[in-house]
Amino acid sequence: MKIAILGYGTVGRGVAQIIEERVPEVEVARILELPDRLTDPRMTPNYQDIVDDPAIELVVECMGGIEPAHTFILQALNAGKHVVTSNKAVVAAHFAEFAEAASKAGVGLLIEASVGGGIPWIASIEKVRRIEDVQSFSGIMNGTTNYIVYSMLKDGADFAEVLSKAQELGFAERDPTADIDGIDVRNKTIISASVAFDVACTQDLPVSGIRNLTKYDLSLFGSRDLTVKLIGRGVQADGRYAVSVEPVAVSTSTLEANVPTNFNLVTLDAPSIGELKFYGQGAGSLPTGNAIVQDILDCVAGRRPTYDFSRGLVYDPAMLHGPYVF
Ligand code: HSE
Repeated sequence: MKIAILGYGTVGRGVAQIIEERVPEVEVARILELPDRLTDPRMTPNYQDIVDDPAIELVVECMGGIEPAHTFILQALNAGKHVVTSNKAVVAAHFAEFAEAASKAGVGLLIEASVGGGIPWIASIEKVRRIEDVQSFSGIMNGTTNYIVYSMLKDGADFAEVLSKAQELGFAERDPTADIDGIDVRNKTIISASVAFDVACTQDLPVSGIRNLTKYDLSLFGSRDLTVKLIGRGVQADGRYAVSVEPVAVSTSTLEANVPTNFNLVTLDAPSIGELKFYGQGAGSLPTGNAIVQDILDCVAGRRPTYDFSRGLVYDPAMLHGPYVF
């Protein structure tokens, strides 16, 4: 299968590397890149070259952001091309629109890499959903904030101090707002809830990040055998559901409390399977590239996931009331 990659940054390069080294049945035929960065004959700055090329059967979108990613994804789907994306912002904002366009065109929309990097999270939710309802999910979905809180605790350092060290090490973005204010986890929570609960998840969920967490807070929690983790969470019962993103007090004896540096740990819970936990690298060139290549191979094998958000669950934030401690 001939594919195109939109966006040749950390993730795009990881995808190309994995395909080149290990996946001979897929060929990266075109790469969308900025006009001043055209270093390879496959590169073009013009998206029309890709959309109008009938030989390109699948488009990998890893540009990030809402526009032009949103327009490019829709154009690809409407042109009958499969789309694989790692872009959580655009999927969270336009999931229902993309799912409808994909289903109308009879092509695949595959989003594994948009949540949890290399962790097979979306596929696992989809497998559980074949048999039963997911009752709840929760977890550490952002490596940057996990690294920050972990280092504040380990080094007794202030938030600002650790954040600038994380930026120096390349863990945190130059503009870390989406991570530290919980927006990245919000997008991942919306996508997880949409898949887990078959619902066009509300965009209007309560979101708190870790910007105001102090080393004093952490030492106070520490004296009670607790630590703090930024947790994305969703629950459903009796035709209602709720979602949230907030720092949560976590007992130091839990697996969550012991997730180090920039790793993720996500849990889902369903009646017959019980609790399932997934731990691994939630970001990075090769882990995220791996998730994308898995989706490409699934698509080559004929997998066309369908998403139906018409189930009509009612959003009820009251379901989240009460203390929540792991
Ligand atoms: N900024 C994200 C994180 C990248 O730190 O987890 C992966 O989505």
